[in-house]
Amino acid sequence: TRPTRVTLYEVGPRDGLQSEAVTVPVPVKIDLINRLSAAGLTHIEAASFVSTKWVPQMADAEAVMAGIARDARVSYSALTPNLIGYTRAISSGADRVAVFASASESFSLRNINATIADSLIRFAPVLTTAEKDQVPVRAYVSCAFVCPYEGRIAPEAVLNVAQNLIDMGCYEVAISDTIGAATPADMARLLDQVLSHIPADRLAVHVHDTYGQALANILTALDYGIATFDSSVGGLGGCPYAPGASGNVATEDVLYMLNGLGIETGVDLDAIIETAWFISEALGHAPRSKLAMAKAR
Ligand code: HMG
Ligand code: MG
Repeated sequence: TRPTRVTLYEVGPRDGLQSEAVTVPVPVKIDLINRLSAAGLTHIEAASFVSTKWVPQMADAEAVMAGIARDARVSYSALTPNLIGYTRAISSGADRVAVFASASESFSLRNINATIADSLIRFAPVLTTAEKDQVPVRAYVSCAFVCPYEGRIAPEAVLNVAQNLIDMGCYEVAISDTIGAATPADMARLLDQVLSHIPADRLAVHVHDTYGQALANILTALDYGIATFDSSVGGLGGCPYAPGASGNVATEDVLYMLNGLGIETGVDLDAIIETAWFISEALGHAPRSKLAMAKAR
């Protein structure tokens, strides 16, 4: 059954800005995060602590974390691929971290230069250190439906990686449609498989909107009881190692649908639309969301 309340996990400052061609100045990133928290979002992925050589857009992660006007209601998370990243994130004040694995071997090699098995080995010290530090660790499973290099991915492969991450101590696994190619039939098939082993409250759904299926996929996942969804203000996003992937589903588009369904989020739609215009103007392109265009300035 559908949840009555949903957590929106905002990934715009991270997933959104990591693949923008222009380098966004630190004060703009900080302003973006502050506007998102003022809009009522309680989960904001503020930065990633990855190799600067691999993702130059996130080289200023420390400065961004240091400049945020911290809101006590908000949990600021950071993407961390290994113990180096974890240490940087925690020194910078991240409240939680996220590791990221893939259900596709080819994508794993391209994105983090490791096989799936090796990536799990790298995450082990992150999980044990985080447990000592009492830092919650989230996990992503990329290419949960389709891989840009391998094509369709079997649900069993997704379940296998997700189960490993839960067993290692991750509090939540975000099932990720990295290239936005899944349809509601794919979502249903995967959730049928995964939910027979992992409860809905340990899962999140992270969709990109490349093929226009994002809201339909979220509605499908809601009917399976999923209550945490990743989204990105203004539909920002993509992944530098997933060619052709467009933005994440826009926070304002998801919010409009949830409001219409009577599902609570605690997030102010107008403030999100305003923020979508703010960041899009800073980036020099129009917002990639239906709502921001419908309510054009
Ligand atoms: P590597 O080159 O194999 O790593 O990269 P290495 O361990 O051999 O280290 C190479 C150098 O990087 C060393 O420095 C390390 O110290 C340094 P050197 O000795 O050459 O001077 N290094 C680091 N520096 C800063 N922070 C770190 C770090 N780690 C090593 N954390 C690595 C492996 C994982 C580091 C690299 O491949 C990487 O950073 N990949 C990140 C790629 C990425 O950020 N992709 C986008 C995010 S994933 C995504 O968007 C999908 C998601 O949204 C869900 C979905 O939609 O599917 C989450
Ligand atoms: Mg993503």
